[in-house]
Amino acid sequence: MRRFAQNGRGGEEIVMTTDFSRRGFLKGSLAFGGVMATGVLPALADDPALFPQRGRWERLSIVSHHIKAGASRPFAVLHISDTHLTAAHPDESEAIRRRAKARSVTFGGRQEEALRDSLAWAKEHVDYVVHTGDLIDFQTKANLDLIGKLCGDSFPMMTCAPGNHEFYHEWKPEDAADPRKLLQAAYPFDVTFRSSVINGVNFVTLDNSSGKVSAEQATKFEAEVKKGLPIILAMHCPIKTAHIVRSASRFWRKKNLKDIPDMGKFVCAWQKEVRENETQDFYAYLASQPLLKAILAGHNHVTAADRFSPSAMEYVVGGNFMFHGAEITIE
Ligand SMILES: [Fe+2]
Repeated sequence: MRRFAQNGRGGEEIVMTTDFSRRGFLKGSLAFGGVMATGVLPALADDPALFPQRGRWERLSIVSHHIKAGASRPFAVLHISDTHLTAAHPDESEAIRRRAKARSVTFGGRQEEALRDSLAWAKEHVDYVVHTGDLIDFQTKANLDLIGKLCGDSFPMMTCAPGNHEFYHEWKPEDAADPRKLLQAAYPFDVTFRSSVINGVNFVTLDNSSGKVSAEQATKFEAEVKKGLPIILAMHCPIKTAHIVRSASRFWRKKNLKDIPDMGKFVCAWQKEVRENETQDFYAYLASQPLLKAILAGHNHVTAADRFSPSAMEYVVGGNFMFHGAEITIE
Protein backbone atom coordinates (compact mmCIF):
# COMPACT_ATOMS: atom_id res chain seq x y z
CA MET A 1 0.00 0.00 0.00
CA ARG A 2 1.26 3.52 -0.64
CA ARG A 3 0.15 7.07 -0.10
CA PHE A 4 1.26 10.42 -1.40
CA ALA A 5 2.81 12.84 1.08
CA GLN A 6 4.19 16.34 0.98
CA ASN A 7 7.95 16.12 1.16
CA GLY A 8 8.43 19.54 2.72
CA ARG A 9 9.98 20.90 -0.48
CA GLY A 10 6.67 21.63 -2.17
CA GLY A 11 6.58 18.34 -4.07
CA GLU A 12 5.07 14.93 -3.60
CA GLU A 13 6.78 11.70 -2.88
CA ILE A 14 5.58 8.14 -2.62
CA VAL A 15 5.62 6.66 0.89
CA MET A 16 5.26 2.94 1.45
CA THR A 17 2.96 2.35 4.42
CA THR A 18 3.53 -1.39 4.84
CA ASP A 19 5.44 -1.76 8.08
CA PHE A 20 8.73 -3.20 6.92
CA SER A 21 11.69 -2.87 9.19
CA ARG A 22 14.84 -2.44 7.06
CA ARG A 23 16.05 -5.87 8.13
CA GLY A 24 12.66 -7.42 7.35
CA PHE A 25 12.54 -5.65 4.01
CA LEU A 26 16.00 -6.90 3.05
CA LYS A 27 15.12 -10.39 4.17
CA GLY A 28 11.96 -10.23 2.13
CA SER A 29 13.86 -8.94 -0.87
CA LEU A 30 16.47 -11.63 -0.64
CA ALA A 31 13.85 -14.32 -0.32
CA PHE A 32 11.94 -12.87 -3.26
CA GLY A 33 15.18 -12.46 -5.22
CA GLY A 34 16.07 -16.06 -4.56
CA VAL A 35 12.75 -17.23 -5.93
CA MET A 36 13.14 -14.93 -8.94
CA ALA A 37 16.65 -16.17 -9.66
CA THR A 38 15.76 -19.82 -9.55
CA GLY A 39 12.28 -19.89 -10.97
CA VAL A 40 9.90 -17.06 -11.65
CA LEU A 41 12.03 -14.69 -13.75
CA PRO A 42 13.48 -17.18 -16.25
CA ALA A 43 10.10 -18.85 -16.64
CA LEU A 44 8.45 -15.50 -17.35
CA ALA A 45 11.23 -14.37 -19.63
CA ASP A 46 11.20 -17.53 -21.70
CA ASP A 47 7.43 -18.03 -21.85
CA PRO A 48 6.60 -17.73 -25.57
CA ALA A 49 2.96 -17.00 -24.70
CA LEU A 50 4.06 -13.85 -22.87
CA PHE A 51 7.05 -12.93 -25.08
CA PRO A 52 6.41 -14.34 -28.57
CA GLN A 53 9.28 -12.29 -30.06
CA ARG A 54 11.76 -13.33 -27.35
CA GLY A 55 15.25 -13.88 -28.73
CA ARG A 56 14.22 -13.07 -32.27
CA TRP A 57 15.58 -9.62 -32.90
CA GLU A 58 16.81 -8.50 -29.52
CA ARG A 59 20.48 -8.84 -30.35
CA LEU A 60 20.14 -6.44 -33.29
CA SER A 61 21.06 -2.82 -32.69
CA ILE A 62 19.41 -0.83 -35.46
CA VAL A 63 19.47 2.95 -35.65
CA SER A 64 17.01 4.88 -37.76
CA HIS A 65 17.46 7.58 -40.40
CA HIS A 66 15.11 9.28 -42.83
CA ILE A 67 15.95 10.61 -46.27
CA LYS A 68 13.77 12.90 -48.35
CA ALA A 69 14.92 11.82 -51.79
CA GLY A 70 11.81 12.27 -53.95
CA ALA A 71 10.80 8.60 -54.19
CA SER A 72 7.72 7.65 -56.22
CA ARG A 73 6.52 5.72 -53.13
CA PRO A 74 7.94 5.68 -49.59
CA PHE A 75 10.02 2.61 -48.74
CA ALA A 76 12.59 1.37 -46.27
CA VAL A 77 16.10 -0.01 -46.52
CA LEU A 78 18.36 -1.91 -44.15
CA HIS A 79 21.94 -0.67 -44.37
CA ILE A 80 24.55 -3.07 -42.96
CA SER A 81 28.30 -3.29 -43.35
CA ASP A 82 31.41 -5.03 -42.05
CA THR A 83 30.11 -8.48 -41.16
CA HIS A 84 33.65 -9.93 -41.41
CA LEU A 85 32.78 -13.60 -41.93
CA THR A 86 35.68 -15.80 -40.84
CA ALA A 87 34.85 -19.32 -42.06
CA ALA A 88 37.26 -21.97 -43.38
CA HIS A 89 36.47 -25.44 -44.69
CA PRO A 90 38.24 -28.36 -42.97
CA ASP A 91 40.12 -29.09 -46.20
CA GLU A 92 41.51 -25.56 -46.53
CA SER A 93 45.16 -25.07 -45.60
CA GLU A 94 46.36 -25.16 -42.03
CA ALA A 95 47.42 -21.49 -42.28
CA ILE A 96 43.95 -20.44 -43.49
CA ARG A 97 42.21 -22.45 -40.77
CA ARG A 98 44.49 -20.97 -38.11
CA ARG A 99 43.83 -17.47 -39.36
CA ALA A 100 40.07 -18.10 -39.54
CA LYS A 101 40.10 -19.16 -35.90
CA ALA A 102 42.13 -16.16 -34.75
CA ARG A 103 40.04 -13.67 -36.72
CA SER A 104 36.84 -15.28 -35.45
CA VAL A 105 38.00 -14.39 -31.94
CA THR A 106 38.70 -10.83 -33.12
CA PHE A 107 35.15 -10.38 -34.41
CA GLY A 108 33.32 -12.25 -31.68
CA GLY A 109 32.48 -15.48 -33.50
CA ARG A 110 28.81 -14.59 -34.07
CA GLN A 111 29.13 -12.90 -37.47
CA GLU A 112 27.07 -15.52 -39.32
CA GLU A 113 24.29 -15.19 -36.74
CA ALA A 114 24.45 -11.40 -37.04
CA LEU A 115 24.05 -11.55 -40.81
CA ARG A 116 21.29 -14.17 -40.65
CA ASP A 117 19.38 -12.12 -38.05
CA SER A 118 19.85 -8.91 -40.04
CA LEU A 119 18.61 -10.42 -43.30
CA ALA A 120 15.69 -12.19 -41.60
CA TRP A 121 14.73 -8.90 -39.93
CA ALA A 122 15.03 -7.14 -43.28
CA LYS A 123 12.65 -9.61 -44.93
CA GLU A 124 9.95 -8.70 -42.43
CA HIS A 125 10.58 -4.97 -42.08
CA VAL A 126 12.13 -3.35 -45.16
CA ASP A 127 12.07 -3.45 -48.95
CA TYR A 128 15.77 -3.43 -49.80
CA VAL A 129 19.15 -4.24 -48.26
CA VAL A 130 22.42 -2.42 -48.87
CA HIS A 131 25.67 -4.01 -47.66
CA THR A 132 28.66 -1.69 -47.87
CA GLY A 133 31.47 -4.21 -47.71
CA ASP A 134 33.77 -6.35 -45.59
CA LEU A 135 31.06 -8.99 -45.77
CA ILE A 136 33.94 -11.47 -45.57
CA ASP A 137 37.12 -10.91 -43.56
CA PHE A 138 39.42 -12.56 -46.09
CA GLN A 139 39.18 -14.90 -49.04
CA THR A 140 38.64 -18.52 -48.13
CA LYS A 141 36.56 -20.97 -50.10
CA ALA A 142 34.22 -21.22 -47.13
CA ASN A 143 33.74 -17.44 -46.93
CA LEU A 144 33.08 -17.15 -50.68
CA ASP A 145 30.57 -20.03 -50.39
CA LEU A 146 28.86 -18.28 -47.47
CA ILE A 147 28.11 -15.19 -49.58
CA GLY A 148 25.65 -17.17 -51.72
CA LYS A 149 24.49 -19.39 -48.88
CA LEU A 150 23.58 -16.52 -46.54
CA CYS A 151 22.65 -13.78 -49.03
CA GLY A 152 21.40 -15.75 -52.05
CA ASP A 153 17.74 -15.55 -51.03
CA SER A 154 18.08 -11.81 -50.40
CA PHE A 155 20.02 -10.91 -53.58
CA PRO A 156 16.97 -10.05 -55.68
CA MET A 157 16.41 -7.17 -53.25
CA MET A 158 19.96 -6.59 -52.03
CA THR A 159 23.01 -4.78 -53.33
CA CYS A 160 26.60 -4.92 -52.14
CA ALA A 161 29.76 -2.87 -52.50
CA PRO A 162 32.98 -4.71 -51.68
CA GLY A 163 35.30 -3.64 -48.86
CA ASN A 164 39.05 -3.86 -48.54
CA HIS A 165 38.76 -7.20 -46.70
CA GLU A 166 36.99 -8.83 -49.64
CA PHE A 167 40.36 -8.67 -51.41
CA TYR A 168 42.51 -9.30 -48.37
CA HIS A 169 45.68 -10.03 -50.27
CA GLU A 170 47.89 -11.90 -47.82
CA TRP A 171 45.55 -14.85 -47.61
CA LYS A 172 44.52 -15.69 -51.15
CA PRO A 173 43.24 -19.19 -51.72
CA GLU A 174 46.08 -21.51 -52.55
CA ASP A 175 45.33 -21.61 -56.25
CA ALA A 176 46.32 -17.91 -56.26
CA ALA A 177 43.54 -17.11 -58.74
CA ASP A 178 42.73 -13.45 -59.27
CA PRO A 179 40.92 -12.45 -56.04
CA ARG A 180 38.74 -9.97 -57.95
CA LYS A 181 37.48 -12.71 -60.27
CA LEU A 182 36.92 -15.09 -57.34
CA LEU A 183 34.89 -12.47 -55.50
CA GLN A 184 32.88 -11.45 -58.55
CA ALA A 185 31.93 -15.10 -59.14
CA ALA A 186 30.17 -15.12 -55.73
CA TYR A 187 27.74 -12.34 -56.76
CA PRO A 188 24.96 -12.22 -59.37
CA PHE A 189 25.73 -8.55 -60.16
CA ASP A 190 28.75 -6.35 -60.93
CA VAL A 191 30.42 -5.43 -57.63
CA THR A 192 32.64 -2.72 -59.12
CA PHE A 193 29.72 -0.53 -60.21
CA ARG A 194 25.98 -1.09 -60.14
CA SER A 195 22.81 0.95 -60.48
CA SER A 196 19.47 -0.35 -59.24
CA VAL A 197 16.36 1.80 -59.17
CA ILE A 198 13.91 1.30 -56.29
CA ASN A 199 10.70 3.36 -56.33
CA GLY A 200 12.34 6.00 -58.49
CA VAL A 201 15.52 6.24 -56.38
CA ASN A 202 18.77 5.23 -58.07
CA PHE A 203 20.99 3.18 -55.74
CA VAL A 204 24.53 3.33 -57.08
CA THR A 205 27.05 0.98 -55.49
CA LEU A 206 30.70 1.29 -56.37
CA ASP A 207 33.92 -0.34 -55.25
CA ASN A 208 36.14 2.24 -53.53
CA SER A 209 37.60 -0.44 -51.24
CA SER A 210 41.16 0.65 -52.04
CA GLY A 211 40.25 4.21 -51.02
CA LYS A 212 40.15 5.20 -54.69
CA VAL A 213 37.52 5.80 -57.35
CA SER A 214 38.72 5.20 -60.92
CA ALA A 215 38.15 7.54 -63.86
CA GLU A 216 35.98 4.79 -65.40
CA GLN A 217 33.76 4.63 -62.30
CA ALA A 218 33.51 8.45 -62.24
CA THR A 219 32.42 8.44 -65.89
CA LYS A 220 29.81 5.76 -65.19
CA PHE A 221 28.51 7.81 -62.26
CA GLU A 222 28.17 10.90 -64.45
CA ALA A 223 26.02 8.79 -66.81
CA GLU A 224 23.81 7.89 -63.83
CA VAL A 225 23.41 11.59 -62.96
CA LYS A 226 22.18 12.20 -66.52
CA LYS A 227 19.26 9.82 -65.86
CA GLY A 228 17.86 12.62 -63.68
CA LEU A 229 16.80 10.39 -60.76
CA PRO A 230 17.65 11.04 -57.11
CA ILE A 231 20.77 9.04 -56.20
CA ILE A 232 21.83 7.22 -53.04
CA LEU A 233 25.49 6.27 -53.33
CA ALA A 234 26.73 3.24 -51.38
CA MET A 235 30.42 2.36 -51.04
CA HIS A 236 32.75 0.92 -48.44
CA CYS A 237 35.13 3.75 -47.52
CA PRO A 238 33.39 6.88 -46.23
CA ILE A 239 34.20 10.22 -47.75
CA LYS A 240 36.03 12.11 -45.04
CA THR A 241 34.07 14.89 -43.39
CA ALA A 242 35.02 16.49 -40.07
CA HIS A 243 32.61 14.50 -37.90
CA ILE A 244 33.13 11.19 -39.72
CA VAL A 245 36.89 11.59 -39.21
CA ARG A 246 36.39 12.55 -35.56
CA SER A 247 34.10 9.61 -34.76
CA ALA A 248 36.45 7.12 -36.43
CA SER A 249 39.44 8.65 -34.71
CA ARG A 250 37.83 8.27 -31.31
CA PHE A 251 36.70 4.70 -31.99
CA TRP A 252 39.95 3.40 -33.40
CA ARG A 253 42.35 5.23 -31.11
CA LYS A 254 40.17 4.44 -28.09
CA LYS A 255 40.53 7.97 -26.76
CA ASN A 256 38.55 9.41 -23.90
CA LEU A 257 35.82 11.95 -24.54
CA LYS A 258 38.10 14.77 -23.45
CA ASP A 259 40.57 13.72 -26.14
CA ILE A 260 38.16 14.19 -29.04
CA PRO A 261 40.11 16.28 -31.51
CA ASP A 262 38.79 19.73 -32.34
CA MET A 263 37.87 19.42 -36.00
CA GLY A 264 36.54 22.99 -36.27
CA LYS A 265 39.15 24.04 -38.81
CA PHE A 266 39.54 20.63 -40.43
CA VAL A 267 39.39 20.73 -44.23
CA CYS A 268 39.38 17.43 -46.12
CA ALA A 269 41.58 17.03 -49.18
CA TRP A 270 38.64 16.86 -51.60
CA GLN A 271 37.34 20.17 -50.20
CA LYS A 272 40.52 22.06 -51.12
CA GLU A 273 40.90 24.21 -54.22
CA VAL A 274 43.87 22.20 -55.40
CA ARG A 275 43.24 18.46 -55.25
CA GLU A 276 45.75 15.68 -55.64
CA ASN A 277 44.03 12.88 -57.53
CA GLU A 278 40.94 11.81 -59.48
CA THR A 279 39.28 10.36 -56.37
CA GLN A 280 39.35 13.77 -54.67
CA ASP A 281 38.06 15.36 -57.89
CA PHE A 282 35.19 12.85 -57.95
CA TYR A 283 34.23 13.56 -54.34
CA ALA A 284 34.27 17.32 -55.05
CA TYR A 285 32.06 16.68 -58.10
CA LEU A 286 29.67 14.62 -55.94
CA ALA A 287 29.35 17.48 -53.47
CA SER A 288 28.10 19.72 -56.28
CA GLN A 289 25.38 17.30 -57.45
CA PRO A 290 21.91 18.20 -56.15
CA LEU A 291 20.61 14.77 -57.25
CA LEU A 292 22.87 13.10 -54.68
CA LYS A 293 20.57 12.55 -51.69
CA ALA A 294 22.73 10.41 -49.38
CA ILE A 295 25.94 8.44 -49.09
CA LEU A 296 25.96 5.10 -47.26
CA ALA A 297 29.31 3.72 -46.10
CA GLY A 298 30.97 1.44 -43.56
CA HIS A 299 34.63 0.61 -42.90
CA ASN A 300 34.92 2.58 -39.64
CA HIS A 301 32.88 0.05 -37.60
CA VAL A 302 31.22 2.90 -35.71
CA THR A 303 27.88 4.50 -36.52
CA ALA A 304 28.09 8.19 -37.42
CA ALA A 305 26.37 10.70 -39.67
CA ASP A 306 27.46 14.04 -41.05
CA ARG A 307 26.38 16.46 -43.71
CA PHE A 308 28.32 15.86 -46.91
CA SER A 309 26.79 18.42 -49.25
CA PRO A 310 23.77 20.77 -49.34
CA SER A 311 21.63 17.90 -50.67
CA ALA A 312 23.20 14.83 -49.02
CA MET A 313 24.00 13.43 -45.60
CA GLU A 314 26.61 10.71 -45.22
CA TYR A 315 25.63 7.75 -43.03
CA VAL A 316 28.29 5.39 -41.76
CA VAL A 317 26.95 2.25 -40.10
CA GLY A 318 28.67 0.30 -37.31
CA GLY A 319 29.98 -3.23 -37.73
CA ASN A 320 27.39 -5.89 -38.54
CA PHE A 321 29.65 -8.35 -36.65
CA MET A 322 28.38 -6.45 -33.56
CA PHE A 323 24.77 -6.87 -34.84
CA HIS A 324 24.68 -3.20 -35.91
CA GLY A 325 22.60 -1.89 -38.77
CA ALA A 326 20.59 1.16 -39.86
CA GLU A 327 17.01 1.27 -41.03
CA ILE A 328 16.61 4.09 -43.52
CA THR A 329 13.15 5.22 -44.48
CA ILE A 330 13.05 7.01 -47.80
CA GLU A 331 10.35 9.20 -49.27
FE1 LIG B 1 35.58 -3.71 -41.69
